[in-house]
Amino acid sequence: MDLFHEIHKDIPREGPGDNESTKQAINMLKDIPANCTALDIGCGPGLQTIELAKNIDGKIFAIDIHEPFLDKLLQTAFKENLSHRIEAKKMSMFSLEFKEDNFDLIWCEGAIFIIGFQKGLQEWRKYIKTGGYLVVSEISWLREDIPKEPKNFWEYEYPEIKGIADNIKIIEKSGYSPIGNFIIPEKGWWKDYYNPLTDRINKLRKKYKDNKEANDIMDSTQREIEMYKRYSDYYGYVFYIMKKV
Ligand SMILES: C[S@@+](CC[C@H](N)C(=O)[O-])C[C@H]1O[C@@H](n2cnc3c(N)ncnc32)[C@H](O)[C@@H]1O
Repeated sequence: MDLFHEIHKDIPREGPGDNESTKQAINMLKDIPANCTALDIGCGPGLQTIELAKNIDGKIFAIDIHEPFLDKLLQTAFKENLSHRIEAKKMSMFSLEFKEDNFDLIWCEGAIFIIGFQKGLQEWRKYIKTGGYLVVSEISWLREDIPKEPKNFWEYEYPEIKGIADNIKIIEKSGYSPIGNFIIPEKGWWKDYYNPLTDRINKLRKKYKDNKEANDIMDSTQREIEMYKRYSDYYGYVFYIMKKV
């Protein structure tokens, strides 16, 4: 197994988030039809897929390119008696193999950065029915006066990072009407994501004591965690809820 996946194996979530935030975003979808068809892109181990299945009526396709995550989602779906409602498929967000106008809802928690916020909005639009929804969470600046350290860090890691107002402009320009947005609370970064990652790194430091390459990768994850500890007032994960017009 490569080290990235050894660090991330069996971490409950693969990005910031929590069930309360997923539910808050679902509650903002006012007219989702009964027996709807939804797609969860970059589902990872799938905690949000399960929450979606519990709170909307219909079928959810969940896609990811890392098979162990899909297996984990299917195990959880089985335990929760939701197997009949969730179909997990290995598929890339860059080449969705679905019909156009197929989905009442496309969901993407913490993964649209992989294709890029604007490109994701534009490319995925055709798969959504008119009047259907796109819900994504995306790292965003929360203030204007960003200190140099997080600014340099995130502009290197993710040059497309923007403030909420700029992302709303992109939503409007890309053929959607913005329904709302909210910031994921700080605890959503720690409980299921950064805390378990920190524990995992502490364990792997011992195993890879003399391996420079491995320690460099772990240093980089730890730098990201330290950055959030110091600068969480300045950036966060924001849910954006939009409707295709
Ligand atoms: C930051 S994680 C978020 C996972 C999950 N939504 C969550 O919040 O726990 C990003 C996910 O995107 C997946 N991924 C990476 N490249 C992808 C691609 N080209 N197509 C689909 N999924 C991809 C990764 O395997 C990973 O599960």
